[in-house]
Amino acid sequence: MNILEIIAKKRDKKELTREEIEYFITEYTKGTITDYQAAALVMAIYINGMKNEEITALTLAMANSGDILDLKDLGIVVDKHSTGGVGDKVTLILAPIIAALGVPVAKMSGRGLGYTGGTIDKLESIPGYQTDISIEEFKQNVRKIGISLIGQTMNLAPADKKIYALRDAISATESIPLIASSIMSKKIAAGADKIVLDVTYGSGAFMKTKEKAEELAEVMRQIGEFAERETVCVITPMEQPLGRNIGNSLEVIEAVEFLKGNMEEDVKEVVLALGSNMLRLAGKGENLQENKEIMLETIQNGKAIQKLKELIQNQNGDTNYIDNLEKFEKAKYVMPVTLEEQGVVQRLDAEIVGKTSVALGAGRIKKEDKIDNSVGIHLEKKIGDYVTKQEVVAYVYANDEEKGKEAVENLKRAYEVL
Ligand code: URA
Repeated sequence: MNILEIIAKKRDKKELTREEIEYFITEYTKGTITDYQAAALVMAIYINGMKNEEITALTLAMANSGDILDLKDLGIVVDKHSTGGVGDKVTLILAPIIAALGVPVAKMSGRGLGYTGGTIDKLESIPGYQTDISIEEFKQNVRKIGISLIGQTMNLAPADKKIYALRDAISATESIPLIASSIMSKKIAAGADKIVLDVTYGSGAFMKTKEKAEELAEVMRQIGEFAERETVCVITPMEQPLGRNIGNSLEVIEAVEFLKGNMEEDVKEVVLALGSNMLRLAGKGENLQENKEIMLETIQNGKAIQKLKELIQNQNGDTNYIDNLEKFEKAKYVMPVTLEEQGVVQRLDAEIVGKTSVALGAGRIKKEDKIDNSVGIHLEKKIGDYVTKQEVVAYVYANDEEKGKEAVENLKRAYEVL
């Protein structure tokens, strides 16, 4: 088999066979297919799409590119994943709540992709927290405290790790076959029995319309069925950023505040919708409303924040930062954003906000870029809020004055007030 023929076939809108897909994944993982060849094929898939059989073959080949974890001895493990968003700190909140309710959480998360953030980058803003641990330690953590959140650093779906970073660097993120295979290969490899997926749509999501999100959801549900992992998709809007903070340590701070009881309404809705389904799949209760109430109780009685601290401590993170959020390193410049108009916020473009945050250093432009944990954006005003002239609508947190000024100008464009 020859990678040039495979690239040419997809370039010419033809269907790839299972053998061709497996060849590409095996050889790219080994490094005998180069990044530029893989980039060409990935871009051809992005442009010309794939049939469902091709997507399933791609997903299974990616899942089988490394180890497949067997977590049977941990009980029913329910995993969660999002198709991506701006300000999406849901995993940081949801995982400890679910673990505090006695459902094992063994989750492999991702890094930032395009203008969306990644849980692993956020967790690494907590000094000491280790996302790169052995499989044995990962399982041991779940056995000991009921939860472990790790990065894709073990030999789990290594093909996805390479393709994910490649897609991020070549603007090939918004694609149903590439997203579905990326997410489902990781979930299958990480050993979850049941999977709850947050499929987002809107300006801050890879799927811009609800219909597209439903299409992506159906593809992933079918892959789950094929792989015998029950998969439930919850479709959620991402028209504006979720919550108020965007940026790594800023999002950790917002997540901790949430678990301390200071809950933003939009974040709360998504957390409860996903969590109530996770509890149902884990056999903890069929009634979603009752499940939501149990989750809220777990926040109110302090068990959820306690579980987050246990998780952080168990993975070598410094929990003093959670007890004292002031300890997080501050950005050098905090710049207010004001608008010339007065009225009600009609639009707050999440994609612009996400890209602005990446440009400040909260995400990567090149694969090897280092993240700046302290930069980002805090939103004072969101859709539906009234704004007077010169009132502060947001703050930019920057370590570079020029980048900060540019971010302020960009954010002005993200708001529409009427
Ligand atoms: N999350 C992933 O893991 N992969 C994607 O492609 C998008 C979101």
